[in-house]
Amino acid sequence: MTRKLEKARQYEKKYSKNIQKKERPAFHLTPYVGWMNDPNGFSRFGDKYHLFYQYYPYDTNWGPMHWGHAVSDDLLHWEYLPVALAGDKPYDKNGVFSGSAIDLGNGKHLLMYTGVKETWKKKAKHPQVRQMQCVAIGNGLEYEKYENNPVIDETKLPKNASPVDFRDPKIVRTDDGSFLAYMGTKDKQESGQILVYESKDALNWKFKSVLIKNNARLGNMWECPDVFELEGYDVLLASPQDVTPEQFEGLSGNVPLAAIGHIDKEKQVMYDEDFQVADYGLDFYAHQTVLAPDGRRIMIGWMQNWDACCHRIPKQKWFGQMSLPRELHIVDGKLIQNPIQEIEKYRKNQVLVNQHEIQGTNQKIQGISGRLVDVTFKIPTDAKEEYTQIQIKFAADISKNRYCSLLYRKNEHTLTIDRLYSGNQRAILNQRSCIIDSDASTLKLRLILDRFSAEVFVNDGQKVMSMALYTEQDAQEIAFSTDGKLNVTVEKYDLEI
Ligand code: FRU
Repeated sequence: MTRKLEKARQYEKKYSKNIQKKERPAFHLTPYVGWMNDPNGFSRFGDKYHLFYQYYPYDTNWGPMHWGHAVSDDLLHWEYLPVALAGDKPYDKNGVFSGSAIDLGNGKHLLMYTGVKETWKKKAKHPQVRQMQCVAIGNGLEYEKYENNPVIDETKLPKNASPVDFRDPKIVRTDDGSFLAYMGTKDKQESGQILVYESKDALNWKFKSVLIKNNARLGNMWECPDVFELEGYDVLLASPQDVTPEQFEGLSGNVPLAAIGHIDKEKQVMYDEDFQVADYGLDFYAHQTVLAPDGRRIMIGWMQNWDACCHRIPKQKWFGQMSLPRELHIVDGKLIQNPIQEIEKYRKNQVLVNQHEIQGTNQKIQGISGRLVDVTFKIPTDAKEEYTQIQIKFAADISKNRYCSLLYRKNEHTLTIDRLYSGNQRAILNQRSCIIDSDASTLKLRLILDRFSAEVFVNDGQKVMSMALYTEQDAQEIAFSTDGKLNVTVEKYDLEI
């Protein structure tokens, strides 16, 4: 084992002991210690789910990237394994960036990742940066980097592709047993494109095609692609940077994309793509999927936003967490996401309140509170209802005016998630909204709270809003405020995981 990897392993083993169970979410994965960003290598291998992640153990800020590693049987209980990769070779000495993993079927697990290398030229103000694709093969615990790495470097780039931004390979197996890998890059106009490479053995790769070009439709660079078939459609997930609000339903910055369309399998070109926002909340990015043994397509994302990393809980010993894994479907061409069914096993202490009248501000309902809960609200939306807006405060301590909230504006058909009053002292990114475009007479909101996060599944997964929470753990109240009068139905469970 290299010194760099050994050092990281010793460090995480020692310092993770300082983090009490209660200081982490109950079922969302956080870094063993230090910093976490993107999910990597989400895969099945040896009867377990494996999830790797962008990892810097030594600090709660981003630093030279490693691959952290955890395994799970049910995607809710995670066991940490030792850090799997460090940047310990000349071609990845500045970091092992995002990528994917695949079961090779011969007892071997293959990781495909981006190696980052910076070279200083004499008198230069900046280093020359190169990103290249590499593989490591292992047994689910220990991984050996391939001797002929990198397997795809700038010499294999098509014309009009950046060797500086060239990353995040997603490897998949095709029906004939060979491999394809999808990765993000920029063209010379600074616009993202997804490249496709093909290989018979996952080691020798050849450029195949440009799957899709951004052509300045959504931001600039597109990172972290994933490609899969779902219910008669082909889906491309990607993470565009620098999106402007007019491009994508009023959202800006890093916005998680799900492009639903069709891929010509021979040519590996996508067409008829419909761009959909994969999550309308404040924190969700770099999402990738795994195929469960029972055929479910399950997606997980980094529940953070690059532009909001300055929101912190003082002295917290970890930073960054994964979202709840979600089951994907497509209905009428639209992506539907719901929490993995496994969570239902842990719903305890049901409280069901039918048609409860809400009038005035900060109304509480007996038995409806908690910070580790799965709660569904049903709100009547008919124009004749005697209210224009309803606000649901959660993770709240009303006496201190601390809360996060969901605000539904009936006439504007908008839902806003907000953490301005959650106790953080930074100015940016406290609120995001989406349009409720269903004409159903009830708005259904399923809210899952896990100490440090909120995820809202709207109308059985038509839209999702996720965000990290920074409020003190004793802020447990749920309260309702409205400018009129309405009856809400609430079904609440504690989550005992
Ligand atoms: C996305 C990303 C990836 C990159 C990684 C670096 O969040 O920028 O493109 O591989 O993070 O940590």
